[in-house]
Amino acid sequence: MSRTGARVERLPLARFTTLGVGGEAEVWFTGSHEQLAEAMEQPYRILGGGSNLVISDQGVPERVIRLSGPLAERDLNPDPALSTPDEIVTGWVGGGVPLPGLVRALQKLGLSNLEGTVGIPGQVGGSVWMNAGTRFGEMFDGLHTIEIVTPQGTRQVTPADLDWGYRRSGIPLNHIVSRVRLKLRLSTPEAVLARMEAADQARKGQPKNKTPGCAFKNPTLPGGEKVSAGKLIDEAGLKGTRVGNALIAPEHGNFIVNLGGATAADVHALLRVIRERVGVPMELEYELWPTDPGLSAPAGSE
Ligand code: EPU
Repeated sequence: MSRTGARVERLPLARFTTLGVGGEAEVWFTGSHEQLAEAMEQPYRILGGGSNLVISDQGVPERVIRLSGPLAERDLNPDPALSTPDEIVTGWVGGGVPLPGLVRALQKLGLSNLEGTVGIPGQVGGSVWMNAGTRFGEMFDGLHTIEIVTPQGTRQVTPADLDWGYRRSGIPLNHIVSRVRLKLRLSTPEAVLARMEAADQARKGQPKNKTPGCAFKNPTLPGGEKVSAGKLIDEAGLKGTRVGNALIAPEHGNFIVNLGGATAADVHALLRVIRERVGVPMELEYELWPTDPGLSAPAGSE
């Protein structure tokens, strides 16, 4: 317990990630703005759903903040002051809310705009921070207000205040997305479900193993065309390449999977192989703890 009642425990981080890799750190479970402020008094990192994250085998020396309690709850009731008959603006949805359950709940209510993110296993905060999405939609399709907490204080912004884009919110690293209000369109449960099924269909062939999802963002070629990073990795003949217990998935070239017992070092080695062998500069989509400047910078940009 901390001064403000945040729960603090030293834990292996692998269990908080979809890849299942990562050493220990001190985890701060914070459920209020007061607890967040205390946790941020020392160097920290923020851990969302761990679905896009590769944590070092040594863990990290910083405090790891995880949103819990009220910051992992959702109020989907329309805010009468902000909603119109066509556009619903919800109450607050905590950054620690799991995205899959939120997407299902919105479908049942017949509320549209976020169904394109179906299948993304992250939490709301991290998904907003990286503007997670698929070809069928992204987080910024359904945001009204974003609350951001920093050691300097809390502020509320709208998407128009941010320099957001493809897999990017414009929110600096270590600024915490504590809560958001969603902006949704009134539809029907059937129509929302149909769009979810179309997005689901596109993921059918993706690997089922432990994975942080796509390793690289899809690059834009000099002519302006966006190409699939997975296709480029496939064309370089790299699918099925294995280092230790990490593998470039045979199903989709942009997925690195943990066959069981993989280490962060194995995953980094595969990322380097991809960087060296694919001729097109590609930006890493995974977040690395700690950051590896050699891997995170787009190849060819140094
Ligand atoms: N393709 C290949 N070989 C491969 C992979 C893909 O030839 O190894 C071809 C496919 O056959 C298809 C095209 O490339 O013709 C596009 O592939 P896909 O439909 O899988 O889409 P993607 O652009 O590779 C994006 C997202 C995925 C998301 C899918 C489906 C990125 C970096 N990737 O992949 O997101 O699941 O669309 O909506 O934007 C993620 O962000 O973690 C992620 C996996």
